Amino acid sequence: MPDLPLSVELAREHREIDNGIQTFIEKLVCGSVRHELLTETLAALRRHIYLEEVFLFPPLREAGIVMPIFVMMREHGQLWRTMDALTDLLADSNDTGRLADTCTQLLDQLHQHNSKEEPIIYPSADTALPLQTSAELTRFIETGRAPDGWMCQQAGA
Ligand SMILES: [Fe+2]
Ligand SMILES: [Fe+2]
Repeated sequence: MPDLPLSVELAREHREIDNGIQTFIEKLVCGSVRHELLTETLAALRRHIYLEEVFLFPPLREAGIVMPIFVMMREHGQLWRTMDALTDLLADSNDTGRLADTCTQLLDQLHQHNSKEEPIIYPSADTALPLQTSAELTRFIETGRAPDGWMCQQAGA
């Protein structure tokens, strides 16, 4: 299979998620609430966090990358709470100002997170994963789904 390195696939997901939120904000500014676009983008972000916490992080932690992963997990919790707030805003509010502000907050948090994760964690995704995990993660990126109701470890922290 002509797979790209995992680090490239994972960074591509970052960009797709950023673009989804960015487009949602742009449409919002023009007065259109693209409900489905934001719902799909948040689902993609939850799935991305799932694959990191379930497939990627445990073996890297075992390989000694402990502190950076601790920081990433804590930030996942912050991202998760902002996503929950957005889901609520989308469900029962026409407050497009707050919706836009909270989307901007999520984009800022993602920028903070991804700008560390890509240089510090992702290179090890290509070099430090057991072969089987690497294959499982590649397969998950192509077709996998996070279980319904799954929450990241620090979602409630
Ligand atoms: Fe992450
Ligand atoms: Fe990520």
